[in-house]
Amino acid sequence: EKGGYPHFMLKEIFEQPRSILDSMRGRLVAENTQLTMSSIREYANRFKNAERIIIVACGTSWHAGLVAEYMIEELARIPVEVEYASEFRYRNPIIREGDIVIAISQSGETADTLAALELAKSKGALIFGVCNVVGSSIARATDAGAYTHAGPEIGVASTKAFTAQVTVLTLISMMLAEMRGTIEASALRQLMMEMEQIPSKVEKALELDAEVQVISEIFKDATNFIYLGRGFNFPVALEGALKLKEISYIHAEGYPAAEMKHGPIALIDENMPVVVIATKDSSYEKVVSNIQEVRARKGRVIAIVTEGDTVIPQMAEFVIEVPSTHEALVPLISVIPLQLLSYHIAVLRGCNVDQPRNLAKSVTVE
Ligand code: F6R
Repeated sequence: EKGGYPHFMLKEIFEQPRSILDSMRGRLVAENTQLTMSSIREYANRFKNAERIIIVACGTSWHAGLVAEYMIEELARIPVEVEYASEFRYRNPIIREGDIVIAISQSGETADTLAALELAKSKGALIFGVCNVVGSSIARATDAGAYTHAGPEIGVASTKAFTAQVTVLTLISMMLAEMRGTIEASALRQLMMEMEQIPSKVEKALELDAEVQVISEIFKDATNFIYLGRGFNFPVALEGALKLKEISYIHAEGYPAAEMKHGPIALIDENMPVVVIATKDSSYEKVVSNIQEVRARKGRVIAIVTEGDTVIPQMAEFVIEVPSTHEALVPLISVIPLQLLSYHIAVLRGCNVDQPRNLAKSVTVE
């Protein structure tokens, strides 16, 4: 059942080229710039005129929501707010009829996410679901939705569900941009062509496994980790830190790289591993300065960079090179080595990676 892998988590990490493809199947044909998602078309007018999109989710699904915030605002120019479902539902949120609420959930059973969408529904918002489990409670409670089609996820730590969520949300962002006329045809086509190449680039990123394993050996006894990223990679930093805490029980914090100087920089010394996602994108130069700040305090930098980078290898102690892609699609690639890092560190520490202590696959309690 684990397909030859020692753990479900590793199997699911390696399934991603396939699961991402499954999430796109029948929905994206770059050659003729064709995007198909009937549930979006069905509510085309609501989406076209949406005043605001509110995303509600928990945990890793909330991180996928953050990626979507950057993407929808950039491509479709609709204001987006991303909310922890548990906070949203208890604070008398302002919801208007022109609002669209997107609920993201792998299991489709998360109690807080379900309650948040019920609340929004009672106030007249259109509710759209992005779920993995077909027929789940959240999927049934929504007005419309798109399944992620990642297949069953058994490992408690979410991996392929995250990349499938980001994939579906990317397609939604592209459709909204097309419908609202906020993207040029040639730019859209280019983005779609890049998207079609993601599965093979993820395949390539998975070849980093042995390299990541070596780095994991070196840092397996660390007691703390910091993860930094900016822009589209900020949610990836949060996700990398969450993966590590969940399965290895190492304390880890994810931060937007520029926030470091407002506090967390005080934590940096020669014992602090700092994972910096520093791919070539619009915030690259800024992230390079952040790496220098960490180095100046003797922090141990593990940098995720774009293939061919010649600058960061001279500054970071360890460098992991990932294939380049469109800036908006980078999270689908940059998250892969972080999943592998948490997996290997947890295994080396003798942890139960598929069933970490105190965690359940579906959180059906508040
Ligand atoms: C992280 C993880 C949790 C879930 C969260 C939401 O690896 O598994 O943080 O992401 O409990 O679950 P779903 O997506 O099922 O609503």
